Amino acid sequence: MKITPTKPFILRCFLISLFLSLPFLFLHLFSPQPPNHTITTTTTKDLTTSSKTTSKDLTIRPGYSSYETYIQRQLNKTLNPKLRKIWTTRDWNRKIPIFAKFFSELKDKNLLTKTSKALCIGARVGQEVEALRRNGVVDSIGMDLVPYPPLVVKGDFHNQPFDNDTFDFEFSNVFDHALYPQKFVAEIERTLKPNGVCVLHVALSRRADKYSANDLYSVQPLVELFKNSVLLHVRGVDGFGLDTEVAFRKKPPRRF
Ligand SMILES: *[C@@H]1O[C@H](CO)[C@@H](O)[C@H](O)[C@H]1NC(C)=O
Ligand SMILES: *[C@@H]1O[C@H](CO)[C@@H](O)[C@H](O)[C@H]1NC(C)=O
Repeated sequence: MKITPTKPFILRCFLISLFLSLPFLFLHLFSPQPPNHTITTTTTKDLTTSSKTTSKDLTIRPGYSSYETYIQRQLNKTLNPKLRKIWTTRDWNRKIPIFAKFFSELKDKNLLTKTSKALCIGARVGQEVEALRRNGVVDSIGMDLVPYPPLVVKGDFHNQPFDNDTFDFEFSNVFDHALYPQKFVAEIERTLKPNGVCVLHVALSRRADKYSANDLYSVQPLVELFKNSVLLHVRGVDGFGLDTEVAFRKKPPRRF
């Protein structure tokens, strides 16, 4: 008889505690959650916080658990035998004249001369290099994860294998492949000579390919990333799925 009241008592305690915990449950459910971050976004999160330049107009694609996975994926495309075959045969004849025309236009604007020391970043099999050489720019070389001698040497655009102040001209149409856009640009500014010119072909407002690591929606993030350069021009181009040409000139060293 004495024990009977305890059962409802315990039940009441339980119900009361459940009731009291409800606000916390709701708070948890409806409070702003961080986006579904798994380990895959650690690197991009580090990047966006460290660079301070990535904005809504430049986003890093999630899905790379490590730098090694990213490099592996890029290598997968670069080493694909079918693609390499196409790049050196059908594309070789189709694309080189178009690249040559772009470079000839840059020569007309005096952004490139026959005596320029030129680098093509992410040049695969070196179509751009061949196009530069056909424009008389003999001192030109390409760089990619996989070398293709004699036109392309091995190198990672996040960590170029060149000394500071090496090139007069750098060209790239693989900005979208950069997992660390800030590093990509910093390396260009490091290896360009003062007053050297960098020309990028990029795709705005549209997803490039499945090997892209970032998406760019305006020129503004580039202007912010090229912090030691001045913007020379932005113009529309028809460059193999890339629609915009952006040119920068590295500033001369500051005098004190
Ligand atoms: C690279 O390609 C191979 C086959 O083509 C595939 O099995 C592998 O998962 C790919 N690796 C990456 C990192 O994409
Ligand atoms: C090369 O340039 C980088 C970045 O501007 C600078 O931090 C570094 O000290 C330079 N290295 C040399 C050897 O001048």
